[in-house]
Amino acid sequence: MFRRTALLALAALLPSSLAQVSEDFESGWDQTAWPTYAPDCNQGGTVTLDSTKAHSGTNSIRVNGAGGFCGHIFFGTTAVPTGDVYVRVYLQAQTALTSSHVSFITMPDSNQGTDKHLRIGGQSGILMYNRESDDATLPALSPNGIAASEALPTGTWECFEYHLSTNGSIETWLNGDAIAGLTSIKGVTNEYNTQWQSNTEIPSVTGIYFGWESYGGDVNTFWYDDIAVASTRVGCL
Ligand SMILES: *[C@@H]1O[C@H](CO)[C@@H](O)[C@H](O)[C@H]1NC(C)=O
Repeated sequence: MFRRTALLALAALLPSSLAQVSEDFESGWDQTAWPTYAPDCNQGGTVTLDSTKAHSGTNSIRVNGAGGFCGHIFFGTTAVPTGDVYVRVYLQAQTALTSSHVSFITMPDSNQGTDKHLRIGGQSGILMYNRESDDATLPALSPNGIAASEALPTGTWECFEYHLSTNGSIETWLNGDAIAGLTSIKGVTNEYNTQWQSNTEIPSVTGIYFGWESYGGDVNTFWYDDIAVASTRVGCL
């Protein structure tokens, strides 16, 4: 408790460029620091502290995501560094990604416009990014693009990490291994990131929210633990 409070106090005092948070939920769910997020509507999805399942310790946050857009629910933080943003989260999905489009991380992105998000989720059975303003995906959902990403294992804790670079590049790691299809480096194009790079706006995210949103009927349960948001790579525990 002391450590988390100290970190948050430090984050409040420092310039936002140095904002950073790390949270293991062992002191419970602080809903002021980690509020729920469900823009527009909130019908059926729930967020709870789960003291029966954890990556470390005994607690995690459980998200029961309902079907359809309004079944969405997230929780997260607005303590986002300016400059490079690195996120490390341990997550566990109950059900495999399907062919339908879903998101499990959403980030309001002021460069895309009001209420537009940079989203991480799945489609075509694989992990992907989706830019809400133009619906571009990373990777492109071509056979080669799909092959360059990966499925999200179910029933196990997965260390998911990503980096939003100040030059617009995106890097992503699953259990420490880079995923080619979820990588878009400025100046390096390939057939699965050309669509993504057609928009040269650099994401500027003002929040990082973990949960569930589906645009068809998919439902799922996700658990999240040991979240770190920082301006340098944190790595897996
Ligand atoms: C942009 O950022 C990425 C990720 O940090 C880095 O690999 C790349 O070298 C940078 N490119 C330029 C042109 O600065």
